[in-house]
Amino acid sequence: MRGKSVLLIIGGGIAAYKSLALIRRIKERGATVRAILTAAGAEFVTPLSVASLSGEKVFQDLFSLTDEAEMGHIQLSRSADLVVVAPATADLMAKLANGLANDLASTALLATDKPVLMAPAMNVRMWNHAATQRNLATLKQDGVLFVGPNDGDMACGEFGPGRMAEPLEIAGTIENFFASNGGALSGLKALVTAGPTQEPLDPVRFIANRSSGKQGYAIADALARAGAETTLVSGPVEIVAPSGVKLLKVTTAREMLAACESALPADVAVCTAAVADWRPEIAANNKIKKEKGAATPVLRLVENPDILATLAGHARRPGLLIGFAAETENVVEQAVAKRLRKGCDWIVANDVSPATGIMGGDRNTVHVVTASGVEDWPELDKREVGARLAAKIAVALKGAA
Ligand code: CTP
Repeated sequence: MRGKSVLLIIGGGIAAYKSLALIRRIKERGATVRAILTAAGAEFVTPLSVASLSGEKVFQDLFSLTDEAEMGHIQLSRSADLVVVAPATADLMAKLANGLANDLASTALLATDKPVLMAPAMNVRMWNHAATQRNLATLKQDGVLFVGPNDGDMACGEFGPGRMAEPLEIAGTIENFFASNGGALSGLKALVTAGPTQEPLDPVRFIANRSSGKQGYAIADALARAGAETTLVSGPVEIVAPSGVKLLKVTTAREMLAACESALPADVAVCTAAVADWRPEIAANNKIKKEKGAATPVLRLVENPDILATLAGHARRPGLLIGFAAETENVVEQAVAKRLRKGCDWIVANDVSPATGIMGGDRNTVHVVTASGVEDWPELDKREVGARLAAKIAVALKGAA
């Protein structure tokens, strides 16, 4: 991370003392640190300690004439390659999640055009509170990165999640961030679809499938790690979105298509979602009731849009378009035909027969079908499939792994 610069926002919490050590750890790795100290942060550490360790002026006041004359707060917010908030208090998280800007720290967070990494620190109940968890989900969805909090004894005498990650851990995360942003896919935009879709029959019933979303999430994670600006459009699943990925949650196939179109243009799109091919012709507004003596209802289905095929014919077609093929027989032959039928560049085919345990499991055996032939990959962890696919995409788009 030599030559990189970090804007460190120090919030008000007992963990602020660890931020002093964090400044050292970042500087040891060759980056420069400029700090904003909040009013509450200044109750825990002094501006003099922060300035001495960072070797830079410390910024504290939104309305300081001297500071604004030297460097405006907007410029300050964009002067670094990465903004790190440590400790990220419940208050700072809530402000950014809701777009509040009433002091220098919150204004800088809202005005920055750089990635933000937060290291939360707070009392365990504050962390677990529905409001904080809601803010966390919003911030993740907005692409904010997180490190910690960790479990442990807390200064307030309670135990549980809420301790700020250790300075070494935060410095390591920053290092990884810079490594991946010089990564093979940096500067490129990626779109990934994942999970099932749910097609409502009425407010309480729907048609869906067994997709867990694991493979798609692993691919989105690998693409983001390789430095791509990644949007993950996901149907309902039980897994947590990888950090650094922009998550768009959808329910139906039609919502998934609209979300994908909103994410265009993209350099690469990987469609792993198990989109329901059909939806009930009518989704009743009220729960369909059993009427005594009435005939069993007949389900009439209509076809859903094919997202992969739509992207293939789109005016803003992704430069590299990759589909998945879930098959239960003649896997490779079907995939070869599917690649041509859907108009995509590659098809990653897998055998989803129940005996393989692939659907919902952690491992996958895939065959990658391209215009030049078929590659058979060995059985791998789904994360490993993601990493290999990201490397193959990098070679195709940039000629480098
Ligand atoms: N796909 C899609 N939209 C659909 C159906 C499928 O985007 N409505 C995408 C999937 O994400 C996958 C590829 O198309 O990348 C193939 O999906 P699959 O379910 O294997 O194929 P189908 O098109 O449904 O064809 P079939 O069911 O006949 O095998």
